[in-house]
Amino acid sequence: MIGAIWGASCAPLRSDESDPVPAVNTIAIEALSRLKGMDIEANPALKNAVLKVLESTRRTPAFVQIVQDFKLTGQEGGLIEVIEKQPAHSLSAEAARMLLTERDLGTLKKGLAGSQAAAAAIAQALGHSGERLAVPLLAAMVSDAQREVSLRKIAVQALAQTQEGATWLLSAAREEKLADDLKFTATSELNQVRWPQIRAEAAKVLPLPPSSNAEPLPPVSELLKRKGDAAKGAEVFRRDTAGCIKCHQVLGEGIDFGPALSEIGSKLGKDALYESILDPSSGISFGYEAWEFELKSGDEVFGLIASETEDAVMVKTQGGGMSQHRKIDIKARIKMKLSIMPAGLQQAMSPSDLVNLVEYLAGLKKK
Ligand code: HEC
Repeated sequence: MIGAIWGASCAPLRSDESDPVPAVNTIAIEALSRLKGMDIEANPALKNAVLKVLESTRRTPAFVQIVQDFKLTGQEGGLIEVIEKQPAHSLSAEAARMLLTERDLGTLKKGLAGSQAAAAAIAQALGHSGERLAVPLLAAMVSDAQREVSLRKIAVQALAQTQEGATWLLSAAREEKLADDLKFTATSELNQVRWPQIRAEAAKVLPLPPSSNAEPLPPVSELLKRKGDAAKGAEVFRRDTAGCIKCHQVLGEGIDFGPALSEIGSKLGKDALYESILDPSSGISFGYEAWEFELKSGDEVFGLIASETEDAVMVKTQGGGMSQHRKIDIKARIKMKLSIMPAGLQQAMSPSDLVNLVEYLAGLKKK
């Protein structure tokens, strides 16, 4: 599982995800990538060539890379197209970041006001961008009662990915400005954010369903004696409030952020499984340490290091997005002592939910 992250560590940054670009193009793009940073305005022939390749990469992530490499301007429409086509791709987050920082909010606003599919894609990419500049745009969407609830939920999830966004959600909830049909999403998101103060505040303003907390948790030695129901445990694993599936994959289902758990029953016994859930920081899996990067722009990036080269770091952020940062843009990096997996997840479950969950995980064995 860990190998999957580290195995890719020496690969060129662009190949982190498969881009559906025809082979001939791949060669042209590769050739171009060696010229990046060159002043193409001073070289019309080169500019022509770049624009030609750019045109052929429309609606693919490579388009974003070329715009970025050559600092091309006037490509807002093309950037939005990529976001709409592949909202979860790391380069779509990059495209959203470029649109935000170029202060080209007009393009984003227009997209967000557009069709539901386009708006959902843009909101998702804005969330992955981790930029606080995205907060007002997403907040406007959450507050817009005319828009579809499913879309506004995506905006809630996107907001919860930055501290400023999560703070905004919390104030909206406190001031009774958060629509009722968004409260459940906000509750599960805010009770899981990595900022302890916001989590503590969320527990008061948007507490998790009380039924899960009704029974106090017996000691693990007691839980170990109980036999759970694995099928019910699988449901707990997928539950929004437990959050497991938002960070772990089992047999390809779920988000690829923390280690895949498809064979976790062969690795950990039930006691270790309880410990992993009840005290995630007790034994952090190698390669899954959490890092915080402070950027010169003032932004913060928090996540796992997916790969690193001499001049750039690829950070895997919660939600499974990737963001690439040049080392010259990084002011400081801090390794966190705590696991990125939040403590206290059992508070969203009854004791029997937890027993069922562990029964399920224990049964996920190597075939
Ligand atoms: C915010 C993301 C996140 C959430 C939510 C989350 N995990 Fe994790 N989990 C991680 C990360 C990252 C690691 C690896 C770091 C560590 O070991 O603490 C991990 C580690 C684990 C491990 C140990 C894996 C190993 O190979 O040793 C288990 C078991 C586990 N999680 C189960 C769960 C269960 C069950 C839930 C839901 C109740 C859950 N996780 C929720 C991110 C998360």
